[in-house]
This record gives sequence, C-alpha cells and structure tokens, in this order.
Amino acid sequence: MYFSLRTKLFLALVVLASALTALAFTPVAGRHGMVASSEPLASEVGVQILREGGNAVDAAVAVGFALAVTHPLAGNIGGGGFMLIRLASGEAVVVDYREAAPAAASRNMYLNSNGEIIPHASTVGVLSAGVPGTVAGLALAEEKYGKLELARVIAPAVHLARGGFEVSYQFSESLRQDGDRLSQFDASRRIFLRDGRFYQPGETFKQPDLAQTLEAIAHQGAKGFYSGAVAQAIAATMQKYHGLITEEDLARYRPILRQPLVGHFRGYEVVSVPPPSSGGVALIEMLNILDPLDLGPPESFESMHLMVEAMRHAYADRAAYLGDADFTPVPVARLTSEAYAAKLREEILHSKPDAPIAAGNPQAFESSQTTHYSVVDDNGNAVANTYTLNNGYGSGVTVEGAGFLLNDEMDDFAAKPGTHNLYGLVQGEANAIAPNKRPLSSMTPTLVLQDGKLRLVLGSPGGGTIINTVLQVLLNNLVFKMDILQAVSFPRFHHQWMPDRLILERVGFSADTIQKLREAGYQIDFYGGIGDCEAIAVDALSGWKFGASDPRADGKAVGY
Ligand code: DON
Repeated sequence: MYFSLRTKLFLALVVLASALTALAFTPVAGRHGMVASSEPLASEVGVQILREGGNAVDAAVAVGFALAVTHPLAGNIGGGGFMLIRLASGEAVVVDYREAAPAAASRNMYLNSNGEIIPHASTVGVLSAGVPGTVAGLALAEEKYGKLELARVIAPAVHLARGGFEVSYQFSESLRQDGDRLSQFDASRRIFLRDGRFYQPGETFKQPDLAQTLEAIAHQGAKGFYSGAVAQAIAATMQKYHGLITEEDLARYRPILRQPLVGHFRGYEVVSVPPPSSGGVALIEMLNILDPLDLGPPESFESMHLMVEAMRHAYADRAAYLGDADFTPVPVARLTSEAYAAKLREEILHSKPDAPIAAGNPQAFESSQTTHYSVVDDNGNAVANTYTLNNGYGSGVTVEGAGFLLNDEMDDFAAKPGTHNLYGLVQGEANAIAPNKRPLSSMTPTLVLQDGKLRLVLGSPGGGTIINTVLQVLLNNLVFKMDILQAVSFPRFHHQWMPDRLILERVGFSADTIQKLREAGYQIDFYGGIGDCEAIAVDALSGWKFGASDPRADGKAVGY
C-alpha cells in the first residue's frame, strides 16, 4: 500500500502519541506481587525476595535496608518510621519505629537564654537527632511477620553497599544540593561528597563502612546496631560533636506494636497509623467530613473548596491536640468520630471560604526527603511503609566508622509550643519535647479495604503535605474513579491551616479554578511538586496488582 510522506509522518505521530499516552497512564501490572518505591534498585530487590518465596514483609524489610544504601537522602538505618502490615488473614498491625528523644533531651533544649529558638539547632548536627528506630522496627517486623531469616533479606543491601551501584542524575544532584550541610561533618564529607569531588551520574558509589554495619545487623539482629561496635560508634560521634544520645539510650530503644486506626468512608475501610503520627487521625477526620458531600468533578472550585476546608480543620486540630499518646492525652476517638465531623461539616457549609478558624472542640512543602514504599505479595499480604531521616540526608551527620546518616527528627517536636517547624507546621503543647518521647509525625502509610478485601496500599513523603497527598490519591481513585497511576499523577494541592496559604502545584490547575479560589479569599502559592506517592491497587476479582510510582520522582513500580 502506498502512503505519501505526509501520511507516513502523520501515522508515525499517531502511533507515537498513543504509545506516550499508554506510557503516561498505564500502571505496572503484576499477577503475583508488586513493589513500588522511590528508587528502582530497591524495588527490584523487593520483587526478587518475593520471587524467591518471601512474603510482603520479607520484601518490605529488604527494601527498607536496600533504600538505606541506594537512597540515602531518605532511606535509612539512622532514622525511623511506621510500617503498616496487613496479612491476608485480616490481622493488621503498625510497627511504630519512630525515633525517641534521648533521655537527656529537655523541653527548652533548642531555645537560647531569651527563650528564642536557636537557628538550625533542631535541624543540623548531632543535637537534632532522635534515637534511631529503623533497625529495631525492621528486625521486629521480620521476626514476627516475615518468613525468611533477617540475614537473607539484608543480603541485597550488603551487596549494594559493598559492590556499589551506579549514581543516578537525581542522586548526584541531591548530594550537590545538600552539600553545605553534609560538608560540616567529617565522615559525611568523605563518604557522600568525596571531599569535594562530587559524584557524577554514571559513577559507582560504594559504602564499605555501611556494608560492615549491615553485616553486623545481619549476624546479630537489632543487637548488632543497638549494642557493641555500632552503638559505640554512635556514642563516639555524639561525643565528638557534643550530642546527647548515649549507649544507654540505644539499649533502651524499643519499637512498639500498635493497633492501626480504622475509618469508614463510603463503604470502604481505611486503615492507617495512630499517634505518634498525626497521619491516620487527620486523614480519617478529613474523610469523615467529606463522606456525604457531593465532591463534583475533581479540580473544580466546588470540590477543591470543600477539600481545602476539611484540610484546614484537620490541621488546626493536629496543631492543638496531637502528640505522642504515650506521654500526653490525645483525643483520638473524638477527633475521628463521625459526630465531630458532622459538626465541622456544618461549620464549613455555613461559613465563608478561608474564614479564620481555630482548632475545633472535639469534646463537644516540599521535596521528597522521606520515602514511602508499598508491597503486596501473591497471597494478598500487604505492607505500607514510610520512614525518614526527616530533612534530606537528615542531620547531615554520618556516624564515624559505621557509614550511615543520623536523622534530625527532633525538629518534629515543638521546639517552642505555638511556633512552627521545618515544614511550617504549628506545633502545640501536646508535642513539647520530653525525654524518651516520640516527636509527632505526619507520615501516613495507609491501606484501603473493600468488602474486607485489600484494594489500595499507599503513602508518600512530603512533611506536612503527606496527609493531604494520601487524601487526594485516595479520593482520586475511590471517588473520581481514576486508575491508580492517574490518581497518583493528578495535580495536587495542600492547605495546613497555618500558614494561611493554599499551595497548588504549578502545572495542572485551570486559570478559571485559580481565579475562583482567589475570589473566594484563598491566598495561593505555587509549588513545583507535592509528594511522591508510591501506591498499589489490587483488583479483588482477578487478584492482579497495579503499581504506580509517582512521576514527580525517580522511583519505580515493579511487578511479576
Ligand atoms: O515525620 C514527619 O512527618 C516528617 N519528619 C516527615 C519528613 C518528610 O516527609 C520530608 N520529606 N519531604
């Protein structure tokens, strides 16, 4: 058949366009299992463990250790987080491995003699670090819920640390961007900045000190980190830079198994994390407010207005009431009750948009510096895990001789109740610093069930924006009927009550909607991208898993 050159070109364009469209909105499909994480090598490690007979928890623990090697911006053994596990049997548990304040921490430790916050004291250097929880949390998850040996699931991470891996463009750029902070500490400067000869994309990055630390954990379990040579190295680094964490703090650290929070939204069950994260409480509070409302088309003014008002109320309550419930009373049941949501909904429907609000009375921005991954295995076991060093590369301090970065999670406490933290979140009395207390988090690893069966696994980094990212991806899929990759890709917005700003992603909102939001009184700021959602949807009938790695970041969903 004869086609003119023009027709051929046209046909080629059509084929290309449909290929691109397919690429843009085709979640990765897997019949047996799926891993979605922020770093491709780590996702591959997870799937390899699944293929070799590991369950979702084995894969999740392997991904957690692998990310500590390949994604040191946020993947870690020197930080903490939350792992939400749901077994196919229906049993669900949260492993709370959030960092704890050292015993010598005190309420005013970041204030000067005039009662003012000392700049950077809670975000850079050893004083900003909480006692790390990751190793204890991952080891506990493996021991209680995994099928394989800890050494087996750490092995890929040891291999990647010792043999090295290829530096990606994003990794190379992030090291450059955070170079100032890293260069202040000897081991960080040597390992991550190669004493000023920045790693270029394509070079191999090897971490022999970290490999040795991971081997100690592989052989001795959590003890290999919380006692012996590694614990001594942490204490020595603390002494060198005048930090607070001691070997006793490390020996005392325990991960805590908690009951997940469960909410109900339009017939779905939403399972998420309790305090010391604010994520589950705020997510369920917002879903309760929105449940009976007509949300209209997504990204319409009407829909956005209702969601933004729900966000403002939930974040005002976060600031007022939330903290570590083991140290301070937190009214979780009342904040997540449908009666309380009904009252807030009435307020929203009868007041002007962006009208000043305070926290309710329940008795009557960002780059991706945390990391989330989701795993589902062939039997329907699922893991949603979010963990972090807080800021990118945490406190900037690498433990000397042990090769891993320490977090700056202490900044998630209220350094001075009523003031805001790194993420602009106003923090209250409930989140004041106290010895051994855990700082309030926004991390929101979440699962959604339909008729008792797994439907979604998701979560995101993004500091204070995390909860709103999870809310929007969830609504995009459940209410607006987008497939999981569309739901993850769709433009996002964020309001956290204070500062009184509505953040919109720069691309994706119509001029018309923006104008209506402005006319309604919202103060609008634009950001490049909000969050990095790594999600999996499960088709209950066929059992197929669909993975979506957020196009805002550099991750990958891998299925098999
Ligand atoms: O626990 C929290 O809420 C914060 N430390 C999370 C930090 C974070 O997501 C940074 N990423 N942008």
